[in-house]
Amino acid sequence: GRFPVITVDGPSGSGKGTICSLLARELGWNLLDSGALYRLVALAARHHGVALDDVDALVILAAHLDVQFSTVEDQNEVTIILEGEEVSNSLRTEDCGADASVVASLGPVRDALLERQRAFVTELGLIADGRDMGTVVFPQAELKVYLTASAEERANRRYNQLINKGLGASLQAILDDIQARDARDMNRAVAPLKPAKDAISLDTTELSIEEVLASVLDQARHKG
Ligand code: C5P
Repeated sequence: GRFPVITVDGPSGSGKGTICSLLARELGWNLLDSGALYRLVALAARHHGVALDDVDALVILAAHLDVQFSTVEDQNEVTIILEGEEVSNSLRTEDCGADASVVASLGPVRDALLERQRAFVTELGLIADGRDMGTVVFPQAELKVYLTASAEERANRRYNQLINKGLGASLQAILDDIQARDARDMNRAVAPLKPAKDAISLDTTELSIEEVLASVLDQARHKG
């Protein structure tokens, strides 16, 4: 039979990343951070001097990404190695996210990553985090969640994350960036960000991480 998949889609800063890693841990399932794959293509392009509009070269990079994901026991963090170099931190920068959303708007690049994403499914089950997990990559998933939050709340969360890490940040710049990325992700021609028809939408603006997690686990138990 099919292996269980829960998809979690939504805009950046909606809390998907945190919720997905907690869900994977709670259920003992595998985790796909599909955004990391688009970020890796953007980073590989930078390393190899490939322009973000050179579709053919980007497709080759995407199809041959030399990447390893490793989880350190007892830690929530995943270490990501690209072409032998640890890139976990450079992947998370705003610049890399912005570049990722540019390469992600190219259909052939998305196609080149499709099978790699599906290969994350194991018999244990998969939590799939992204923008098109429920609509394109795993249309048969038993549970599809669409997480949203107001742009202001998402900017606040990101701002607080950066401040807590001791990094400088401008709330207005973050808000501008989030709105630009939302527009690009929602208005692109291929695999735009939108809820699948059978997705459950959850507005997390006023919810804590614990409340969101409890709600998704509750839905998962109803389906299981
Ligand atoms: O989720 P994250 O911020 O890491 O994603 C970076 C960018 O990759 C997003 O802004 C989006 O443009 C793109 N992306 C996508 N499809 C996915 C995951 C991410 O287009 N499934």
